[in-house]
Amino acid sequence: MVTPIIEYSELFKRSIGDFTDIVQKEMFVFQDRKGREICLRPEGTASIIRAYIENNLAFLPGVKKIFYFGPMFRAERPQKGRYRQFTQFGTEAIGSDSPLLDAEVIKMNLELFQKMGLNELDVVINSVGCRTCNKDYLIALKKFLHSKKQHLCEDCKIRSEKNPLRVFDCKVPDCRKVYEKAPVIIDFLKDDCHGHFENLKKHLDALDVTYKIDPKLVRGFDYYTKTVFEITSGSLGSQNAILGGGRYDYLVEQMGGKSTPAVGAAAGVERLLLVLEESGQLKDINNELTVYVTLMENIPDPVFLDLVMFLRQKDIKTLSGFSRRSLKAQLNEANNLKADYAVILGEDELKEKSLTIRNMKSSTQEKIKITDWHNPVELMNKLQGG
Ligand code: HAM
Repeated sequence: MVTPIIEYSELFKRSIGDFTDIVQKEMFVFQDRKGREICLRPEGTASIIRAYIENNLAFLPGVKKIFYFGPMFRAERPQKGRYRQFTQFGTEAIGSDSPLLDAEVIKMNLELFQKMGLNELDVVINSVGCRTCNKDYLIALKKFLHSKKQHLCEDCKIRSEKNPLRVFDCKVPDCRKVYEKAPVIIDFLKDDCHGHFENLKKHLDALDVTYKIDPKLVRGFDYYTKTVFEITSGSLGSQNAILGGGRYDYLVEQMGGKSTPAVGAAAGVERLLLVLEESGQLKDINNELTVYVTLMENIPDPVFLDLVMFLRQKDIKTLSGFSRRSLKAQLNEANNLKADYAVILGEDELKEKSLTIRNMKSSTQEKIKITDWHNPVELMNKLQGG
């Protein structure tokens, strides 16, 4: 699903929460010509749910599984793995409260990363319960925070009053030290949420997903209920989450739809690329066969274009300078573009119905006969045979 990059700020205030860091500090907010407050979207989930409700997608059968990919914006202090504009790909599964779905979302994303060659990842889970569990917990947390008030930063003093759970998002070291001893929500889960969390763990075990429980993981968004999770990589330093997600059973209703449970996750593409690069996997992605087709004097354009299009249709990365310079200049360019092969079609080749194929690494070349210019299978055989 594709949603707009610009949304009304109100959407995120209502969904992520007024007293979250994202809404209070990190949104790029503007006024349009009519004085309406708009912003660059800081995340995808709220927009997906807005679009889900506005387009009546509830009528579709079964669990609605939606994916998205695109730029997000947060006014954070840039550093490695943390940017003001970054790219997320996300998946949202709308329409079931089963912990099987939470497990499936975690497993699917983990498997995707593993298929990319990333095996040293940690899955961290927690449960933030529901409105009912929250009642007793917030009383206990508020009491604790009140007793530590003099040690808290100014932001946390406000959070303690307005939205106590958000103190766990604080990055100030002194506050973090205080919160090590704070009561945790997981100890306050009532039967339904406790059972949900126990079942999630059981399903993850059955799916061979190794996980850690972090009782302080609350994930900076007010819309979460029950499961929250992250997939992290040690190689990223302090910005270590490649993916974050969780269940948000109240969000659809809160935004004007029919009460509908849902769960989802989003991954940061730049962080993913950093981890892939550090683990040496990025080279493999770029490892596709690259062929440079030279364009020589007196070769009719259609013959050249046919050859280029033929290779592209065969999914070969095909490059050319599109200029009729000397062969030496074109081969130099092929070299700079890191082509594996150069395909040379000069006047001699045209006359003889042949092509010269130059292996750019070994600097050896050979001429092959072509039976049909429109379907030069001999060229493919040569390129694939090495
Ligand atoms: P999030 O944890 O804020 O969750 O973001 C998801 C991922 O986006 C992070 O794990 C990280 O990889 C990447 N990311 C976040 N901020 C930055 C940044 N400033 N620079 C680079 N990468 C970043 C969400 O956005 C939720 N909407 C996820 C979700 C979907 N929950 C349920 N469904």
